[in-house]
Amino acid sequence: MKICAFLGSPRKTGNTYLVLKMIAEKLEKMGHEIEIIYLIDKNIKGCIECFQCQKVKNKPNCSIKDDMQNLYEKILNSDCILLATPVFCWSFSWLIKSFLDRTYCLDKYNEDGSYISLVEGKKCGLILTAAGDEFEGADLVVESYLRMVEYHRMIDIGRVVVCNVLSTKDILENPEVERKIKNFIDNFK
Ligand SMILES: Cc1cc2nc3c(=O)[nH]c(=O)nc-3n(C[C@H](O)[C@H](O)[C@H](O)COP(=O)(O)O)c2cc1C
Repeated sequence: MKICAFLGSPRKTGNTYLVLKMIAEKLEKMGHEIEIIYLIDKNIKGCIECFQCQKVKNKPNCSIKDDMQNLYEKILNSDCILLATPVFCWSFSWLIKSFLDRTYCLDKYNEDGSYISLVEGKKCGLILTAAGDEFEGADLVVESYLRMVEYHRMIDIGRVVVCNVLSTKDILENPEVERKIKNFIDNFK
């Protein structure tokens, strides 16, 4: 599969990257093609609700000419999207939030309220790290992620949620993390 992973942490070698890297190495060994995109390096503005995207039905047609234009191509050319994010204030990181808002243009509405999705049937996965336990925001991010996947008519390929991360030791020396990664990777066989 062609996989595009979007790293939503401002830290390019932080906790979330560490988990993503462990996953990416395994996916590559399995023969998948994976590209990691560091959203912190991209210029991604917020959605301005101009609705220009709704005037064209077969392509994103977002009016904002920033790095999202190239990322739309990457999304549309991938079989699977991975979102990797730390929990920031009971939510996705700001980088992932801006990115997701800008995917509004991938759904095209008809006058009767029905819509088509340009990403229907593509797979999507979530990689999440948090300092708190699963009820200190990670639960809400998983819920938002699942709603987003359903909205875009994508297919959830799984999630790796690593909570209680206070140092990299909690990731690297943690059999529970290894087990979660293995379960996730098995979905790509
Ligand atoms: C601004 C900010 C907000 C945070 N909010 C939460 C939170 O609401 N819940 C939580 O469990 N952890 C929270 N954390 C902790 C991070 O999610 C955690 O340290 C994560 O592993 C950092 O990943 P990174 O190194 O990839 O950025 C927050 C951290 C920061 C910097």
